[in-house]
Amino acid sequence: MRAIITGVGHFVPDERLTNQDLEQMVDTNDEWITTRTGIRERRILKQGKATSHMAVQAATRVMEQKGMTADELDLIIVATSTPNTLIPSTAARVQDELNARDCWGFDLSGGCSGFIFALATGSQFVETGRHQKVMVIGADKMSAIIDYEDRNTCVIFGDGAGAVLLEPSEAEDAGIEDFIHRLDGSGHKHLNMPAGGSEMPASQETLDRKLHYVVQEGKTVFKHAITEMTEVSSRIMERNSLSPKDIRLLIPHQANLRIIDAVARRLGLDHDQVAINIQHYGNTTAATIPLALSEAFQEKRVTPGDWVLMTAFGAGFAWGSVLLKWTLD
Ligand code: UT7
Repeated sequence: MRAIITGVGHFVPDERLTNQDLEQMVDTNDEWITTRTGIRERRILKQGKATSHMAVQAATRVMEQKGMTADELDLIIVATSTPNTLIPSTAARVQDELNARDCWGFDLSGGCSGFIFALATGSQFVETGRHQKVMVIGADKMSAIIDYEDRNTCVIFGDGAGAVLLEPSEAEDAGIEDFIHRLDGSGHKHLNMPAGGSEMPASQETLDRKLHYVVQEGKTVFKHAITEMTEVSSRIMERNSLSPKDIRLLIPHQANLRIIDAVARRLGLDHDQVAINIQHYGNTTAATIPLALSEAFQEKRVTPGDWVLMTAFGAGFAWGSVLLKWTLD
């Protein structure tokens, strides 16, 4: 039994935050942001709405595409670093908003690798025959944990969500073919949000010291991201006897255009083999890959039988690659 993607959808808020807007907020400029990151604008979710709102919209689009109801879902996995609340899970909020009456679910905290970790996790429940319909969602409201006075981070991140439905297939060579996932927690100090968890609960001091925002040592993360995404992607291609020309589309995590270009170049892939939408949305953390996949599908850049390679790197450090044979027409 194989797990195949039978539906894909995404949602981004309407409100745009452009490089020109950021020029008014911090000491930055359009030229720096564009040349160093490739980002031109990001989407920002309104105050009062949370991650589950975007997750529900993305999942609803998948179900509309499929012509199915939420009652058919067996499992909802929400990959996110910006849950609505620490307790309960965002998956619980999504289940409730979708009114999915016959399922269970949980959140998966994998930072920017959250979606590919969730995809590998969800596929196990399908491959074992345990579940028939698994909704895997990547959703983040990064604007909730970004300091808009810190130019090191506020120019990079944005909000969004993407979702896929996994279902079983009898075909032997289809769907989620392989994955290589890795975790190296010694990297935690280079990218994290210091307070708000059990290590440093919220207090007046943590608020005063602005410790509830993401902090990142950009250069260190940058170097590791290129090396590790290239390494796992090369390895997964090699062990599945695939050469660069066999890959129809690389869907990399969208953190920085220079990282994407370097990884693609090292893998021997041409520009038209790479999905890039970072210019429109910035880094939406767990949402980048399903968002790019959904757009690539809409643009008919993937057709049944194509090899699709996904790769991500982020907080943890956590990184990985998923190889899949596309099935959806
Ligand atoms: O998704 C999770 C994983 N995250 C990533 O993969 C992100 C990886 N890192 C990056 O994408 C890049 O490191 C950044 C985009 C975050 C930063 O780019 P960089 O080329 O590594 O710049 P830098 O931090 O080394 O800073 C270079 C210069 C510095 O000035 P000096 O010291 O050379 O005078 C910074 O102060 O650019 C300055 N700078 C800025 N200038 C204008 C930093 N941020 C800005 C800014 N606008 N927003």
